[in-house]
Amino acid sequence: MSVPGFLLFVLLSFSVFGGELQTPSAAPACGDCHRAIYDGWKNSAHATSMESWLFQDALKLAEAEFGSQARKVCLDCHSPIAVYVDDLGLVRKVSWEGVTCDYCHSIREVSTTAMNPRARVEFTQVKSGPSRNAASPVHGTVFSPVHTTSLACISCHEFRNAQGLSVLTTYTEWKNSRYAKEEQSCQTCHMYTIRGNVVDPRVKRTESKEINLHQMPGSHSIDQLNRAIKASLYTEREGDRLKITVKVKNAGAGHHVPTGSPLRQLILEVRAEPYGGVQYSEERIYSRIVADQNGTPIQHEHFAFLKGAKVLSDTRLAADEVRAETFSFKVPRARQVRVEANFYYYYSPVAGTGARGKTKFLSFSRLVP
Ligand code: HEC
Ligand code: HEC
Ligand code: HEC
Ligand code: HEC
Ligand code: HEC
Repeated sequence: MSVPGFLLFVLLSFSVFGGELQTPSAAPACGDCHRAIYDGWKNSAHATSMESWLFQDALKLAEAEFGSQARKVCLDCHSPIAVYVDDLGLVRKVSWEGVTCDYCHSIREVSTTAMNPRARVEFTQVKSGPSRNAASPVHGTVFSPVHTTSLACISCHEFRNAQGLSVLTTYTEWKNSRYAKEEQSCQTCHMYTIRGNVVDPRVKRTESKEINLHQMPGSHSIDQLNRAIKASLYTEREGDRLKITVKVKNAGAGHHVPTGSPLRQLILEVRAEPYGGVQYSEERIYSRIVADQNGTPIQHEHFAFLKGAKVLSDTRLAADEVRAETFSFKVPRARQVRVEANFYYYYSPVAGTGARGKTKFLSFSRLVP
């Protein structure tokens, strides 16, 4: 007697790929079948948002300075499942997975009526996703319009703290940009499609050979930084002065550069090195300076999230914004000069020195006769 194909498939799935999923389930259980997606996610800042020592150090400082209720504020975004299942003690493995599969795919709706946007999440055997016709042998699926729009990201990338300061404004910056009008969502740039199987072909052969990249490259990707910033360099002699102009454009980010944490900076460094003469170097910094209630500028993420109260200045580049920066150095006419412009992305004072703290991503130079 032959076993019907469908039944064989179900049996195979349950034996090789395990039985009913736990709710909430840890990422490796999803990765059993969704391998390519798991590999992308595993390399994302979402997957390390809990175990990263930068975050763990900041969490300890937050609790030491502001008491144990600080933990819930931080975990709301860095480990949302821990908050939902009331595992603030972080006993469960899934609580260490940060922004993980079963959180995002249990989102049913997102409400934007309260002070902060809030996702409604249901941990069941039904997973929400972008397709109308997906069918899985181990879990139900439900089409979710939220997953196809920027609302999927809003609950963690837009945040106002108890002082009323808008600490994260990435969603609003995007909403005010042309990208929102052109319906280019966060996913367009951060979850673009790549080749890969949605599920392991041994479980199910699907028509599509494309998946959405779950690695979500952002400011830690040199490619993304180069997509974001375009610049050009002009030089001109005026008597014994050398005038340098650098035109900077936020050409590829659908929000300000830098966006997100107020400690991020974009730095332009211009150098002029006349042969055998005085060397010059000047900087322009694009950033938002946030202060506490007393006006003291803030140097730590945990402080910004909990106690930030006002914005002292904001020189970031909005989407599509162009700025011309001019520099003027005293350089004798007869001297040849090497002019250099370098762009750095600076993550945070707590990230230390080295590539995690600051990265050079764009650089050009010219010899002025
Ligand atoms: C035994 C294999 C298996 C496991 C384990 C599994 N899935 Fe699936 N999943 C599938 C299959 C098969 C589909 C249907 C794919 C299709 O038809 O395009 C699917 C579809 C989905 C979809 C719908 C995608 C869409 O296009 O809308 C989501 C979301 C999803 N899975 C999330 C998860 C999550 C989260 C986990 C872990 C909690 C998980 N899956 C575990 C096999 C599995
Ligand atoms: C048009 C493309 C585009 C769109 C649309 C877009 N981004 Fe970005 N995003 C980028 C690029 C390019 C970078 C890298 C430059 C940078 O870090 O500012 C980036 C960086 C980021 C970062 C890293 C910031 C940091 O502090 O490390 C986050 C977070 C982010 N985007 C979230 C979002 C969210 C959320 C949305 C939707 C509301 C969105 N992006 C829409 C292109 C885009
Ligand atoms: C930050 C939220 C987030 C996390 C974490 C996340 N996903 Fe997704 N996932 C999405 C969104 C949003 C889409 C839809 C993207 C689109 O259609 O533009 C998606 C799409 C999918 C799909 C449909 C196929 C595809 O590529 O579009 C599957 C299956 C899926 N995710 C499984 C997983 C698994 C498994 C994990 C963990 C390894 C995971 N997701 C982690 C948000 C997330
Ligand atoms: C549950 C909260 C949550 C949701 C939902 C979420 N994110 Fe994030 N995201 C985070 C946290 C937390 C970080 C910072 C992790 C860290 O660096 O410790 C982050 C970091 C990022 C980064 C920065 C990566 C880098 O290079 O540093 C990008 C880009 C990003 N998210 C995009 C998205 C997009 C696009 C969506 C929607 C599809 C989304 N996020 C949904 C919490 C979330
Ligand atoms: C509303 C969501 C949200 C809350 C609440 C939140 N964070 Fe974050 N956190 C993020 C996102 C998103 C990023 C990084 C991407 C960006 O800059 O937008 C981030 C980045 C960080 C970073 C920098 C990590 C890196 O890789 O550079 C640290 C440290 C951090 N958060 C600590 C904390 C602490 C401590 C708390 C609690 C006091 C907290 N966060 C509360 C969403 C949140």
